[in-house]
Amino acid sequence: MTHDNKLQVEAIKCGTVIDHIPAQVGFKLLSLFKFTQTEQRVTVGLNLPSGELGRKDIIKIENTFLTDEQVNQLAVYAPRATVNRIDDYEVVKKLMPTLPDRIVGVLRCPNGNCISRFEPVDSSFAVKQRADGVHLKCKYCEKEFEHQVVLNND
Ligand code: CTP
Ligand code: ZN
Repeated sequence: MTHDNKLQVEAIKCGTVIDHIPAQVGFKLLSLFKFTQTEQRVTVGLNLPSGELGRKDIIKIENTFLTDEQVNQLAVYAPRATVNRIDDYEVVKKLMPTLPDRIVGVLRCPNGNCISRFEPVDSSFAVKQRADGVHLKCKYCEKEFEHQVVLNND
């Protein structure tokens, strides 16, 4: 019997497989993007062996399809993720996230005085490609942060 990585989490009939998520990031995606707040079956594999990454996480959501925009919202967390659309057990579409112009509703502003921390508003960050990497600029306080600073803040 061969040890096929694909068998580590059961195949799904129809829905979305988010593959090649860096290890430790899958849990964050589940909570930030509320993937478990659905009636659909969600199966998760954490710290699975993966050739390219060493270890990876994988999330499978049945009977649910992500829009291109939702796929792109994953880009700062899992830039090398592959989002597979499954229909009748076949992979019918493979999408790679590309950095969106804006990330809305999932992150918290690191600025403790920012109005977005006290008002019931959706956080909103413009995504900026700077020489030293990706920065995020808060719509409310207009402060700009290195993206890792914002991610570590959650
Ligand atoms: N998958 C699944 N259910 C299916 C078909 C595929 O859960 N019915 C999963 C596979 O386990 C894999 C992902 O969807 O994690 C993509 O499938 P596939 O393209 O067949 O695998 P790879 O060729 O390994 O993908 P990649 O080239 O993106 O690494
Ligand atoms: Zn702010």
